[in-house]
Amino acid sequence: MGDKNVSTIVRFWGHAALWVETGGYKLLIDPFLKGNPFAPVGPGDVEPDYILVTHGHGDHLGDTVEIAKRCEATVISNAEIRDWLEARGVKGHGMNIGGGYHFPFGYLKMTQAVHSSTMDDGSSGGNPGGFLLTTIQGEKLYFAGDTGLFGDMRMIGEEGLALAVIPVGDNYTMGLDDALRAVKMLQPRHVIPIHYNTFKILRQEIEGWKQKVEGETGSAVIVLLPGEAWQMGDV
Ligand code: NI
Ligand code: MN
Repeated sequence: MGDKNVSTIVRFWGHAALWVETGGYKLLIDPFLKGNPFAPVGPGDVEPDYILVTHGHGDHLGDTVEIAKRCEATVISNAEIRDWLEARGVKGHGMNIGGGYHFPFGYLKMTQAVHSSTMDDGSSGGNPGGFLLTTIQGEKLYFAGDTGLFGDMRMIGEEGLALAVIPVGDNYTMGLDDALRAVKMLQPRHVIPIHYNTFKILRQEIEGWKQKVEGETGSAVIVLLPGEAWQMGDV
Protein backbone atom coordinates (compact mmCIF):
# COMPACT_ATOMS: atom_id res chain seq x y z
CA MET A 1 0.00 0.00 0.00
CA GLY A 2 1.02 3.64 -0.18
CA ASP A 3 4.27 4.37 1.57
CA LYS A 4 5.47 7.96 1.76
CA ASN A 5 8.94 6.90 2.90
CA VAL A 6 9.86 4.91 -0.17
CA SER A 7 11.75 6.92 -2.76
CA THR A 8 10.80 6.72 -6.44
CA ILE A 9 12.80 4.41 -8.71
CA VAL A 10 12.73 4.45 -12.52
CA ARG A 11 14.21 1.37 -14.19
CA PHE A 12 14.85 1.26 -17.95
CA TRP A 13 13.99 -1.96 -19.77
CA GLY A 14 15.13 -0.97 -23.24
CA HIS A 15 13.41 1.06 -25.97
CA ALA A 16 10.57 2.89 -24.15
CA ALA A 17 9.74 0.32 -21.47
CA LEU A 18 10.08 1.60 -17.91
CA TRP A 19 9.48 0.05 -14.50
CA VAL A 20 8.59 2.66 -11.88
CA GLU A 21 8.31 2.09 -8.15
CA THR A 22 6.66 4.96 -6.34
CA GLY A 23 4.83 5.28 -3.04
CA GLY A 24 4.89 1.50 -2.59
CA TYR A 25 3.26 0.80 -5.97
CA LYS A 26 4.73 -0.79 -9.10
CA LEU A 27 4.01 0.81 -12.46
CA LEU A 28 5.00 -0.54 -15.84
CA ILE A 29 5.09 1.99 -18.66
CA ASP A 30 4.87 0.91 -22.34
CA PRO A 31 5.61 -2.79 -21.70
CA PHE A 32 7.18 -3.77 -25.02
CA LEU A 33 9.18 -6.76 -23.76
CA LYS A 34 8.61 -9.59 -26.27
CA GLY A 35 10.42 -8.45 -29.42
CA ASN A 36 12.41 -5.79 -27.55
CA PRO A 37 16.03 -6.83 -28.15
CA PHE A 38 17.22 -5.19 -24.91
CA ALA A 39 14.47 -6.14 -22.45
CA PRO A 40 16.16 -7.83 -19.48
CA VAL A 41 12.85 -9.42 -18.41
CA GLY A 42 9.95 -11.09 -20.19
CA PRO A 43 6.21 -10.55 -19.83
CA GLY A 44 5.98 -13.54 -17.48
CA ASP A 45 8.54 -12.09 -15.05
CA VAL A 46 6.76 -8.92 -13.96
CA GLU A 47 4.03 -8.15 -11.43
CA PRO A 48 2.92 -4.51 -11.84
CA ASP A 49 -0.02 -2.92 -10.03
CA TYR A 50 -0.67 -0.55 -12.96
CA ILE A 51 0.35 -0.48 -16.60
CA LEU A 52 0.57 2.92 -18.34
CA VAL A 53 0.27 2.97 -22.13
CA THR A 54 1.18 6.18 -23.96
CA HIS A 55 -0.20 5.20 -27.39
CA GLY A 56 -1.33 2.30 -29.54
CA HIS A 57 1.86 1.42 -31.44
CA GLY A 58 3.16 -2.09 -30.93
CA ASP A 59 6.49 -0.97 -29.49
CA HIS A 60 4.53 0.67 -26.61
CA LEU A 61 1.35 -1.40 -26.13
CA GLY A 62 3.65 -4.41 -26.29
CA ASP A 63 2.66 -7.20 -23.89
CA THR A 64 0.01 -5.16 -22.09
CA VAL A 65 -2.83 -7.67 -22.58
CA GLU A 66 -0.84 -10.69 -21.41
CA ILE A 67 0.65 -8.97 -18.36
CA ALA A 68 -2.53 -7.17 -17.30
CA LYS A 69 -4.59 -10.37 -17.45
CA ARG A 70 -2.11 -12.44 -15.46
CA CYS A 71 -1.52 -9.77 -12.76
CA GLU A 72 -4.99 -8.21 -12.82
CA ALA A 73 -3.19 -4.90 -13.22
CA THR A 74 -5.22 -1.83 -14.16
CA VAL A 75 -4.17 -0.32 -17.48
CA ILE A 76 -4.15 3.48 -17.68
CA SER A 77 -4.36 4.84 -21.22
CA ASN A 78 -6.48 7.09 -23.39
CA ALA A 79 -10.16 6.10 -23.59
CA GLU A 80 -9.88 4.52 -27.07
CA ILE A 81 -7.10 2.15 -26.03
CA ARG A 82 -8.99 1.43 -22.77
CA ASP A 83 -12.03 0.37 -24.87
CA TRP A 84 -9.84 -1.82 -27.10
CA LEU A 85 -8.32 -3.46 -24.01
CA GLU A 86 -11.65 -3.95 -22.22
CA ALA A 87 -12.96 -5.79 -25.31
CA ARG A 88 -10.05 -8.19 -24.68
CA GLY A 89 -10.85 -8.71 -21.02
CA VAL A 90 -8.41 -6.19 -19.55
CA LYS A 91 -9.38 -3.82 -16.74
CA GLY A 92 -8.68 -0.25 -17.78
CA HIS A 93 -8.87 3.37 -16.68
CA GLY A 94 -9.44 5.69 -19.63
CA MET A 95 -8.24 9.29 -19.59
CA ASN A 96 -7.77 12.04 -22.12
CA ILE A 97 -5.27 14.80 -22.74
CA GLY A 98 -5.12 17.50 -20.08
CA GLY A 99 -7.04 15.39 -17.58
CA GLY A 100 -5.60 14.11 -14.34
CA TYR A 101 -6.75 11.61 -11.72
CA HIS A 102 -5.71 10.83 -8.14
CA PHE A 103 -4.54 7.22 -8.20
CA PRO A 104 -3.27 5.53 -5.01
CA PHE A 105 0.33 5.99 -6.28
CA GLY A 106 -0.02 9.70 -7.05
CA TYR A 107 -1.72 12.22 -9.32
CA LEU A 108 -1.37 11.31 -12.97
CA LYS A 109 -2.09 13.75 -15.77
CA MET A 110 -2.22 12.82 -19.44
CA THR A 111 -0.21 15.21 -21.60
CA GLN A 112 -0.22 15.81 -25.34
CA ALA A 113 2.25 14.21 -27.71
CA VAL A 114 2.83 15.07 -31.34
CA HIS A 115 2.74 11.62 -32.93
CA SER A 116 0.14 9.03 -34.06
CA SER A 117 -1.52 6.13 -32.25
CA THR A 118 -3.17 3.62 -34.61
CA MET A 119 -3.20 0.11 -33.12
CA ASP A 120 -1.31 -2.64 -34.96
CA ASP A 121 -4.65 -4.24 -36.04
CA GLY A 122 -5.75 -0.95 -37.62
CA SER A 123 -8.13 0.07 -34.80
CA SER A 124 -8.15 3.67 -33.67
CA GLY A 125 -5.76 4.20 -30.80
CA GLY A 126 -7.08 7.71 -30.15
CA ASN A 127 -4.52 10.44 -29.66
CA PRO A 128 -0.99 9.72 -28.49
CA GLY A 129 -0.01 11.08 -25.10
CA GLY A 130 2.49 11.29 -22.33
CA PHE A 131 2.11 11.22 -18.56
CA LEU A 132 2.95 13.73 -15.85
CA LEU A 133 3.13 11.97 -12.49
CA THR A 134 3.06 13.87 -9.22
CA THR A 135 4.28 11.39 -6.62
CA ILE A 136 2.83 11.23 -3.13
CA GLN A 137 5.96 13.10 -2.01
CA GLY A 138 5.07 15.89 -4.46
CA GLU A 139 7.87 15.27 -6.97
CA LYS A 140 6.93 15.63 -10.65
CA LEU A 141 8.05 13.13 -13.25
CA TYR A 142 7.27 13.66 -16.94
CA PHE A 143 7.14 10.72 -19.33
CA ALA A 144 6.83 12.30 -22.77
CA GLY A 145 5.89 9.18 -24.78
CA ASP A 146 6.69 9.22 -28.48
CA THR A 147 6.62 12.84 -29.60
CA GLY A 148 8.13 15.47 -31.77
CA LEU A 149 9.19 18.77 -30.25
CA PHE A 150 6.30 21.07 -29.29
CA GLY A 151 6.36 24.52 -27.73
CA ASP A 152 3.91 23.69 -24.95
CA MET A 153 6.64 21.60 -23.33
CA ARG A 154 7.44 24.96 -21.75
CA MET A 155 4.12 24.79 -19.87
CA ILE A 156 4.87 21.28 -18.66
CA GLY A 157 8.25 22.56 -17.50
CA GLU A 158 6.53 25.31 -15.51
CA GLU A 159 5.23 22.60 -13.18
CA GLY A 160 8.81 22.07 -11.93
CA LEU A 161 10.13 18.67 -12.98
CA ALA A 162 12.38 16.38 -10.97
CA LEU A 163 12.70 14.15 -14.02
CA ALA A 164 11.83 14.15 -17.71
CA VAL A 165 12.00 10.93 -19.74
CA ILE A 166 12.12 11.88 -23.42
CA PRO A 167 12.60 10.11 -26.75
CA VAL A 168 15.74 11.04 -28.69
CA GLY A 169 16.05 8.41 -31.42
CA ASP A 170 14.97 10.61 -34.34
CA ASN A 171 12.99 9.38 -37.39
CA TYR A 172 9.79 8.55 -35.41
CA THR A 173 10.28 11.09 -32.59
CA MET A 174 12.53 13.99 -31.65
CA GLY A 175 16.19 13.52 -32.49
CA LEU A 176 19.09 14.77 -30.41
CA ASP A 177 18.95 18.42 -31.53
CA ASP A 178 15.23 18.81 -30.84
CA ALA A 179 15.62 16.82 -27.61
CA LEU A 180 18.16 19.44 -26.47
CA ARG A 181 15.58 22.15 -27.24
CA ALA A 182 13.01 20.09 -25.30
CA VAL A 183 15.29 19.98 -22.24
CA LYS A 184 15.67 23.77 -22.44
CA MET A 185 11.88 24.14 -22.29
CA LEU A 186 11.21 21.42 -19.72
CA GLN A 187 14.10 22.42 -17.42
CA PRO A 188 13.99 19.15 -15.46
CA ARG A 189 16.54 18.47 -12.72
CA HIS A 190 17.24 15.13 -14.41
CA VAL A 191 16.60 13.82 -17.90
CA ILE A 192 16.60 10.21 -19.09
CA PRO A 193 16.82 9.69 -22.88
CA ILE A 194 14.92 6.70 -24.32
CA HIS A 195 13.64 5.35 -27.67
CA TYR A 196 17.11 5.18 -29.26
CA ASN A 197 19.57 2.44 -30.29
CA THR A 198 16.88 -0.27 -30.10
CA PHE A 199 16.98 -0.71 -33.85
CA LYS A 200 19.45 0.44 -36.51
CA ILE A 201 17.21 3.34 -37.61
CA LEU A 202 17.26 4.75 -34.04
CA ARG A 203 21.03 4.73 -33.64
CA GLN A 204 22.33 7.80 -31.76
CA GLU A 205 25.58 8.84 -30.08
CA ILE A 206 24.28 9.57 -26.60
CA GLU A 207 27.47 10.45 -24.68
CA GLY A 208 28.11 13.51 -26.87
CA TRP A 209 24.50 14.60 -26.34
CA LYS A 210 24.87 14.23 -22.58
CA GLN A 211 27.94 16.53 -22.63
CA LYS A 212 26.13 19.07 -24.77
CA VAL A 213 22.94 19.10 -22.66
CA GLU A 214 24.89 19.38 -19.42
CA GLY A 215 27.01 22.17 -20.93
CA GLU A 216 24.03 24.21 -22.11
CA THR A 217 21.39 23.52 -19.45
CA GLY A 218 21.15 22.92 -15.72
CA SER A 219 19.79 19.40 -16.25
CA ALA A 220 21.73 16.25 -15.38
CA VAL A 221 21.48 13.58 -18.09
CA ILE A 222 21.09 10.06 -16.76
CA VAL A 223 22.05 7.52 -19.42
CA LEU A 224 20.60 4.18 -18.37
CA LEU A 225 21.60 0.90 -19.98
CA PRO A 226 18.74 -1.59 -20.18
CA GLY A 227 18.23 -2.97 -16.66
CA GLU A 228 19.73 0.06 -14.93
CA ALA A 229 17.74 2.35 -12.67
CA TRP A 230 17.69 5.93 -11.41
CA GLN A 231 16.50 6.65 -7.92
CA MET A 232 15.04 9.95 -6.72
CA GLY A 233 17.76 11.63 -4.71
CA ASP A 234 20.60 10.22 -6.82
CA VAL A 235 23.03 12.76 -8.33
NI1 NI B 1 4.95 5.38 -31.66
MN1 MN C 1 7.70 4.14 -30.53
